[in-house]
Amino acid sequence: MNQTALITGASSGIGYELARIFAREGYNLIIVGRHQGTLQTVAENLEREFGGRVIPIASDLSKPESPDQLYREVQSRNLRVDVLVNDAGMGEHGFFTETDLRKELEIIQLNIASLVHLTKLFLKEMVARNNGKVLQLASIAGTMPNPLMAVYGATKAFVLSFSEALSEELKDTNVTMTALLPGATDTDFFNKAGAEETNAAEMAKSNDAAKVAQDGFDALMKGDRKVVSGFMNKVQVAMANVLPDSVSAKNMSKLMEEKENAPQQAKR
Ligand SMILES: NC(=O)c1ccc[n+]([C@@H]2O[C@H](COP(=O)([O-])OP(=O)(O)OC[C@H]3O[C@@H](n4cnc5c(N)ncnc54)[C@H](OP(=O)(O)O)[C@@H]3O)[C@@H](O)[C@H]2O)c1
Repeated sequence: MNQTALITGASSGIGYELARIFAREGYNLIIVGRHQGTLQTVAENLEREFGGRVIPIASDLSKPESPDQLYREVQSRNLRVDVLVNDAGMGEHGFFTETDLRKELEIIQLNIASLVHLTKLFLKEMVARNNGKVLQLASIAGTMPNPLMAVYGATKAFVLSFSEALSEELKDTNVTMTALLPGATDTDFFNKAGAEETNAAEMAKSNDAAKVAQDGFDALMKGDRKVVSGFMNKVQVAMANVLPDSVSAKNMSKLMEEKENAPQQAKR
């Protein structure tokens, strides 16, 4: 019987590329995002290209009740989740005193609370079966202070800490958890975060989401506890480990500033 992977955030970017890899490798998929129409199109295309079964389930994971609803929907269809990929995530760019609190609280709900909630529900089943894998989308932003995206960076620090702690708790089981740490990657992330004019968004253009997804998939299959995708990102994380946090914060601030020629500058 084919294994099933549930991938949140599979409608675009890194999650979409992960869905393609899992489909190519013979997995059946449950793909999750907010928009049923988009998911339906992705599902039909993946089924056509790779065969296998792809089930789209629309769910807004910035709402506290959504993880339970999603879990019940999966149960009601008698589906067993062998691999959980918590990819759905968002950021918000700007000075914290000027950004929208409502959006930031939704980001915390999406990036942290829903990720914890889904992990709780599906991991218990995996441990009971003594079989399963979880991929958590962290970020190199979680390894250093992230001025101008402070809430986002802090959510990713949570994901990394949470994932590494659970990896240790799981060490005597046949269940593994892997944290994937991409750097700036060419997806819709910066547009959605209002950060499309930043130096980081410019840098992202040379980093392919498919390569990041492949690094995450390979590490997940090996059962690695974490993977930083890309050589330059590995260097950046290594530097953040030795530099004073104030210097890392200044470097990240420069990256998150708007480009010199941006229409509106977010500089002070
Ligand atoms: N791009 C980067 O530079 C970068 C770097 C490090 C880490 N990451 C992380 O990688 C993950 C994927 O991001 P991406 O770069 O691939 O960006 P993306 O292209 O914007 O993809 C984000 C995905 O999350 C889904 N999503 C957003 N809000 C949601 C909600 N409330 N409920 C359910 N699904 C939701 C989106 O689907 P819908 O919009 O259709 O709902 C989409 O499928 C995120 O966790 C992000 O933090 C990205």
